[in-house]
Amino acid sequence: MQADPKLTRTGIVTAREHMQKGYVLLAVSVDDRPAFKPGQFMMLQVSGTYDPLLLRPFSILDEHDGAYRFLVKITGRGTQLLAGFEPGRRMFLTGPFGNGFPAALRSSAIVVAGGVGIASVFSFVQQLHRKGTAYKLLYGARTQDDLVLLDLLDPYRPVLSTDDGSLGHHGTITDVLRAGITGRPSVFACGPLPMLAAVKDIAHEHRVPCSVSLEARMACGFGVCLGCTIFDTKGRTRRVCKDGPVFDAEEVSFEKQAAQPY
Ligand SMILES: Cc1cc2nc3c(=O)[nH]c(=O)nc-3n(C[C@H](O)[C@H](O)[C@H](O)COP(=O)(O)OP(=O)(O)OC[C@H]3O[C@@H](n4cnc5c(N)ncnc54)[C@H](O)[C@@H]3O)c2cc1C
Ligand code: FES
Repeated sequence: MQADPKLTRTGIVTAREHMQKGYVLLAVSVDDRPAFKPGQFMMLQVSGTYDPLLLRPFSILDEHDGAYRFLVKITGRGTQLLAGFEPGRRMFLTGPFGNGFPAALRSSAIVVAGGVGIASVFSFVQQLHRKGTAYKLLYGARTQDDLVLLDLLDPYRPVLSTDDGSLGHHGTITDVLRAGITGRPSVFACGPLPMLAAVKDIAHEHRVPCSVSLEARMACGFGVCLGCTIFDTKGRTRRVCKDGPVFDAEEVSFEKQAAQPY
């Protein structure tokens, strides 16, 4: 399977920072530095051999010092290998892919991130901040070791939560959302499926629009292999890579999602 050559890029790792407990921040200078929209992702080579064969999807965290930054959570073999890429290493990557977060908003936004989902919403929050849009960032994780990038997030004044109470509010970030949602904000979220399902329910109760960014196993990243297909609430198939990863939450059937391997 061949990627559209226009989307095929060469990158050089310019920096790598080990963060707490299995997270790595990787900066990659990409040949012609294409523009990207917040919420878009790239497919990254994770090995110099054909094993693993497939590139892996990662949200573009931001652009910094002429490079794209990616937050990598080590979850398996591919991410373990990628975390070992040292500065100076050349790599192959494709993208940016996906629709990204919608630009049109109501007057205010609430952005909810769970765990490594912070990577997908980070540049979106930066954009809201730059535009002067009223927003709140809610960021939750299981424990404080999974709340990453706190230095970078400082200007955006995140409200933090941990399931075990080790940092921020004790409880889930959806508890924080439920207690704090007022007015008619637009809600945006990325995180684990149970979190997204709860965010959808809360937004639905408050009759406010809600967009969720989904994850799925991906092979191509640009719509041809159908490996990332999910069913929406009308039973239609949708490709997470091409039709998403950001969907109107009302279109997403979390019951059907849960029944899938991803
Ligand atoms: C649009 C998109 C954006 C993403 N952005 C980021 C990001 O910014 N940072 C980050 O750390 N991760 C991100 N992910 C998840 C990341 O792609 C996977 O963690 C990675 O592909 C796992 O590769 P692996 O070889 O280490 O894992 P494998 O050895 O293949 O699997 C290890 C574990 O990870 C799970 N896994 C594998 N692929 C995915 C996947 N695509 N999504 C969720 N879980 C997966 C498997 O079920 C298994 O439990 C994103 C995924 C998508 C679809
Ligand atoms: S990953 Fe190939 S169609 Fe989505």
